Amino acid sequence: MEKKYPMALRDVIKLPNPVLRRKAHKVTDFGSDFQACVEDMIETMRNEPGVGLAAPQVNISQRLIVVEYPEDDEIEDALPKLFIVANPEFNLMSKDLVKGTEGCLSVPNLLGQVERSNEVIITGLDRRGKKQTIHARGWLARIFQHEVDHLNGVLFVDRALELYQPEEVQANERV
Ligand code: NI
Repeated sequence: MEKKYPMALRDVIKLPNPVLRRKAHKVTDFGSDFQACVEDMIETMRNEPGVGLAAPQVNISQRLIVVEYPEDDEIEDALPKLFIVANPEFNLMSKDLVKGTEGCLSVPNLLGQVERSNEVIITGLDRRGKKQTIHARGWLARIFQHEVDHLNGVLFVDRALELYQPEEVQANERV
């Protein structure tokens, strides 16, 4: 496929940048600016590297997230799957909560224990503006909850039961 939109890395903004605290706007235009943003976010996420990125993290206050993570990470050597979701909404957030260690590309050198639903169903639009539904469990469900929080100006530090400065941040904690 011909690449119409050459990719470029974007800077990931960090706290206390106020854009991270804004409620992002719904995506209504799926034109070339949006397509370029999608491509840049994918490249920026892979370059960091991270497993998820929300548009406000690249200073764009739009309801767009990209996630790249296996659908079932309990399968050995499972390949990561790329998800691009505009205007994501949760249709289901399971009541069974699981604790996990999260970090954030916008909050460097900090990790925290966060309780999240173990299973979610997300509806939203794909990059062409077509409706899509995603069923996610486990760590993938956690990543989606973390990224959708970004669209509402919420950061993992707001939800964390405890925070600490790690010696090292694991790849799947970078979201
Ligand atoms: Ni984050």
